[in-house]
Amino acid sequence: NFYAVILAGGVGSRFWPASTQAHPKQFHDILGTGSTLIQQTYQRIAHICPPENILISTSEEYIDEVKQQLPDIPENNIMAEPARRNTAPAIAYAVYKIYAKNPNASVLICPSDHLILKESEFHRIATLGLTLSQTNNVLFTLGIKPTRPDTGYGYIQYLPGPSLHPETRKVKTFTEKPNLELAKMFLESGDFLWNAGIFIWSVQSCRRAFEMYLPEIHQTFERGLPLFNTDQEKAYIQKVYPSCENQSVDYGIMEKADNVHVIPADFGWSDLGTWGSLYEHLKWDEHGNAKVGTHILSFDSRSNIIRIEGDKVAVIDGLENYIIVDTPHALLICRRENEQLIKNFVNEVKIRA
Ligand code: GDD
Ligand code: MG
Repeated sequence: NFYAVILAGGVGSRFWPASTQAHPKQFHDILGTGSTLIQQTYQRIAHICPPENILISTSEEYIDEVKQQLPDIPENNIMAEPARRNTAPAIAYAVYKIYAKNPNASVLICPSDHLILKESEFHRIATLGLTLSQTNNVLFTLGIKPTRPDTGYGYIQYLPGPSLHPETRKVKTFTEKPNLELAKMFLESGDFLWNAGIFIWSVQSCRRAFEMYLPEIHQTFERGLPLFNTDQEKAYIQKVYPSCENQSVDYGIMEKADNVHVIPADFGWSDLGTWGSLYEHLKWDEHGNAKVGTHILSFDSRSNIIRIEGDKVAVIDGLENYIIVDTPHALLICRRENEQLIKNFVNEVKIRA
């Protein structure tokens, strides 16, 4: 009864210009390990579910890339969204498709932009969540001990003491992407965790949550149930998906539901959401500059992230705390503290390249 969905339809705009709409970060070997982020996510999950129970949720435009990077996944498990509507419709589509096949399934929903260092601990926690979700009408999420007031995450406040199991806690509040002031308060209070964005729900609990909090999305996919996994699925999705509400599951369900439980987890999690989060995993020179590229010369410069493609020479003098990323199509120069804004200008200026 265990299934998994890998969410791989985002554009990774905070990683621009290395991540672009045409080739987003989940398809890159960002850390230079020899496998891309989506391949790493798949390999991690393949320990928990067989390939026929793993679905890839992505945009139409990335289907070929997914097939090429994950040749073990059956073609019918690669789900093409004809429009980008964020994670709530993406999850509903995948989960209702699984429901149509197996109404007793439990699903592990994973983003494809994470690094997890302690794989066996991840497997243990994920299996615990999948097992508990089979017999409890709850929405599990995995929580990570926060280390900085990062405004790019969801913050989970939980009640002290075990809930359904010694390792689970009942969630009191969920706040998606708070402002800096609030994030600082959450961090100082000590009773908040970061939302890892890894959800574990039975298909039945998921369906109830959509019915309650996102009823229009629920109806769209509920009507599709008899068509899923048949020849008519594609035509139905083409027709209805673009009119789904553009909503993330964090705002749409996690902030509202009263049956959310968290499993605090420590498996060497790191979000590869921004240039700053990547910084910690790169090699630094003696002044804390992370340099990716072959001819980067720096003088009197500190704590920069510099990535230059090709054999171009880059000279950096007297610069501190900047992100400099040069690709054949674009050059980014941004203060590190403003990295969350990269998303805004990519969206606003509608930089497609
Ligand atoms: N299929 C599909 N369709 N996938 C999508 C879509 C979509 O329209 N939009 C985003 N995704 C995928 C992304 O590729 C990523 O793997 C995952 O869904 C999460 O989306 P992000 O856009 O990366 O979300 P986020 O990083 O801003 O926030 C989420 O993750 C944080 C932890 O990394 C939230 O869950 C936060 O609460 C959480 O702290
Ligand atoms: Mg992310």
